[in-house]
Amino acid sequence: MPIRLCVFDAYGTLFDVAAAARSAAKEQGSEGWAARWPALSALWRRKQLEYTWLRAVAGAHVDFWQVTQDALDWAMEAEGLTDPALRQRLLDLYHELAAFPEVPSVLAALKERGLKLAILSNGAPDMLEAAANSARVAAQFDAILSVEAVGVFKPHCSVYGMVGTRFGLPPAEVAFVSSNCWDACAAAAFGFHAIWVNREGAPLDRLHGKPAKIVSDLGGLPALLT
Ligand code: LAC
Repeated sequence: MPIRLCVFDAYGTLFDVAAAARSAAKEQGSEGWAARWPALSALWRRKQLEYTWLRAVAGAHVDFWQVTQDALDWAMEAEGLTDPALRQRLLDLYHELAAFPEVPSVLAALKERGLKLAILSNGAPDMLEAAANSARVAAQFDAILSVEAVGVFKPHCSVYGMVGTRFGLPPAEVAFVSSNCWDACAAAAFGFHAIWVNREGAPLDRLHGKPAKIVSDLGGLPALLT
């Protein structure tokens, strides 16, 4: 079946989650912290994802902005950082994350080939809108879907079901692109043509589905999908 719609995960796939800590480290007055940002950034992301999984399993949903703050608080405490101004700066920067460099041209190429485009993300609607606007890619998407509509995080299958509800397409006509291997695996199990963007050269997750394709960044997508 031909692919008619390409759905993207947001954080880590379109938007660079390390950009907030990297940018803060370059700013004046943060010299002492500059060497420590990679560890903080990795802990922040890891804890953020853990909290989404745990809250989904426990049926204790709060939105992704709350989870992002909770994870940052945990990561800063773990790293011995107690600077409220740094905390606020990191959160402000997270709201306007940079897109990976290849994103605008890849989206334009997919659009030119007649594909519909969407985002399906854990992000709260205002977070996704802010990131898509600051990366100047919002206009390329036919829909920006947030898990807030179903009140549970990925990889709950009701999240992937939002795509069919919105577009009326069977999963086999949908490509789903994520840099989070567990997300690509769950999307494959749901029936999507899943593509894992393995930016880090990580091993494949051993889960209940397997991505159909693996790429190292988004650059090869137009050739894969048309
Ligand atoms: C998202 C997270 C999983 O955007 O990256 O849904």
